[in-house]
Amino acid sequence: MSTWSAVDVITAKRDGFALSDAAITWILTAYVNGDVAEEQMSALLMAIFFNGLASNELRTWTAQMIASGERLDLSGLSRPTVDKHSTGGVGDKISLILAPLVAACGAAVPQLSGRGLGHTGGTLDKLETIPGWRATLSNDEIRDQLERVGAVICAAGEGLAPVDRKLYALRDVTGTVESIPLISSSIMSKKIAEGTGALVLDVKVGRGAFIKDYARARELATTMVALGHGHGVATVAQLTSMDEPLGRCVGNALEVTESVEVLRGAGPSDVRELTLALARIMVELVGIDVDPATKLDDGSAYEVYRQMILAQGGDVDATSPVASSRELVVAARAGVVQSVDALSVGIAAWRLGAGRARKEDPVSAAAGVICLVRRGDEVSAGQPLFELHADDDAHLERGRATIADAVVLGDESVNARPLLLERVEKT
Ligand code: URA
Repeated sequence: MSTWSAVDVITAKRDGFALSDAAITWILTAYVNGDVAEEQMSALLMAIFFNGLASNELRTWTAQMIASGERLDLSGLSRPTVDKHSTGGVGDKISLILAPLVAACGAAVPQLSGRGLGHTGGTLDKLETIPGWRATLSNDEIRDQLERVGAVICAAGEGLAPVDRKLYALRDVTGTVESIPLISSSIMSKKIAEGTGALVLDVKVGRGAFIKDYARARELATTMVALGHGHGVATVAQLTSMDEPLGRCVGNALEVTESVEVLRGAGPSDVRELTLALARIMVELVGIDVDPATKLDDGSAYEVYRQMILAQGGDVDATSPVASSRELVVAARAGVVQSVDALSVGIAAWRLGAGRARKEDPVSAAAGVICLVRRGDEVSAGQPLFELHADDDAHLERGRATIADAVVLGDESVNARPLLLERVEKT
């Protein structure tokens, strides 16, 4: 018989008391075992939502989430390990370029990723548009590919922090997703369990981001950096703007094509700028003295990308899937682009078929949006602003309705806004 009671743990947190390590360990273990009911965990999550977790409580909560599953051991590799996590944005294809780039600099990048939900796309959905590419690898295959190629992007196995899946599903239906301790423990438990030695966090803030408020994004970054260090993972966060989509392309296959352009030394300057900024932090964290720009420009990052895709069965030279229904959205008047709303573009791409509403939904490979203008561009009446891609006219219709007001035109000239906002380190 346990001496603990879920009601005592819930009321302690509800009344603003700190939970002991033993209480946290007990309740998460009992929840995994089915001895704490979903309604009791819901009440505790709501109490945490309102009263938070102090740093020592959060550290234990996260440690217990990690302990609910396996922790990959990557210590035997000949290269230092470093990974990146992004809190998610529209057109965020950085992982596809960054993992091979940092591998080309001499590190091993274990990118264990998820699929997209809602208006932000998932890295696995993008790579699955490449014929033959396989997202699921065994732990031995991950280690082997890291040693041989230096980069792996694959599905995070069910064994990593399994309690997070249960907690996340419960948070989703109880209005408790937007809690900084719950978000940070959810993200960091999976990243720490994946076994990386160092980590850069791209914390997005703005219209198209999960967190729209700067102070909250900063608090999330600081909390995750502290958690990483508390678990022995050298962690730095970079706050970045997500008011406008990243690059021109939003959609699964479209983003793979754009990533390859950047890997071949071309592509949109914002994608290149952010990739290089994150790559520089990653090589610095593992003590590699190489400027990543040289590895983009001399073709070695692209060569690692090819090996990474081939190693997982992908036909790296296959032509990209093409949408059967396409349409241009044009400017109603002449003017200067004041803003391109990342959220509207993300939702449009999702409605065109690129994203899913429920996790079991399929996604379209070819659907998406190509953004033809950016903030500060001058346009004439009738000039194309977006190209919409879908698999059928019904999806095209849904995307068209969402994107209609995504570009604001005015008469004032405006400058592009900075993408890199602030670096957050351990305090
Ligand atoms: N991503 C996660 O993995 N967990 C959260 O709680 C939020 C975003």
